[in-house]
Amino acid sequence: MKVKDLEFKKLITAERIEKKIASLGHQIEKDYQDKVPLFLPVLNGSFMFAADLMKVITIPCRISFVKISSYAGTVSTGQLKTLIGHDESLFGLDVVIIEDIVDTGLTLQKIMDELKGLGARSVETVALLRKSPAREKNIEVKYVGFELEDEFVLGYGLDYDGLGRNLKDIYRKV
Ligand code: PRP
Repeated sequence: MKVKDLEFKKLITAERIEKKIASLGHQIEKDYQDKVPLFLPVLNGSFMFAADLMKVITIPCRISFVKISSYAGTVSTGQLKTLIGHDESLFGLDVVIIEDIVDTGLTLQKIMDELKGLGARSVETVALLRKSPAREKNIEVKYVGFELEDEFVLGYGLDYDGLGRNLKDIYRKV
C-alpha cells in the first residue's frame, strides 16, 4: 500500500489488535477494580486505541483527552511544550495515560513529570505499541500491547504526514 511517497506493508491485523486490547483491558480492570481511574488518552494518535480500550473496561472510570501542545514562548529561544486539555484537579486520582506508541519516550516522560507535579495518587501508562528506543532507555510503561523494533508504523491512529490514521490495521514502512 502506498501513502504519499512511501510503501507500507501490513504488520498487525485489526483482529490481533482487538484481541490484544481485550486482554489489556481485562488486566487494567482487575488492577483498578477498587479504584475509579482517570484515563488520559494523548491526542491525536491514541483516539482509536482509547475508544476501543474504553469499551472493554466496565469498571467506573473517567476519561479526559489531553494533548501536548507546543507554543512559541515569550523568550526568544525555541518552543515550550505543555500538557493541555484537562483542567480539573488530579489530586489523589489514579491516572492511566493512554498512548498509541512510545518511541523515544520523550513525550511520555514530559507528561509523567507534569502529572506528578499535580498531585495524582498514582500514574501508570498503557501503550498499544512500544519501540526499541523506549525499551533501551527503560521508559516505564506498565501495560504494553505490542513490542516493535525501531520501524516506522502507521494506521490505527498513527499517521504519516497526517495520513493513515483512519486505517483499521497497523502497517510498517517497507
Ligand atoms: C506520537 C505518539 C506519542 C509520541 C511518541 O505523537 O502519539 O505521543 O509521538 O513519541 P516519543 O516517544 O518519541 O515521544 P505525535 O507527536 O506524532 O502526535 P500525534 O499523536 O498527533 O500524531
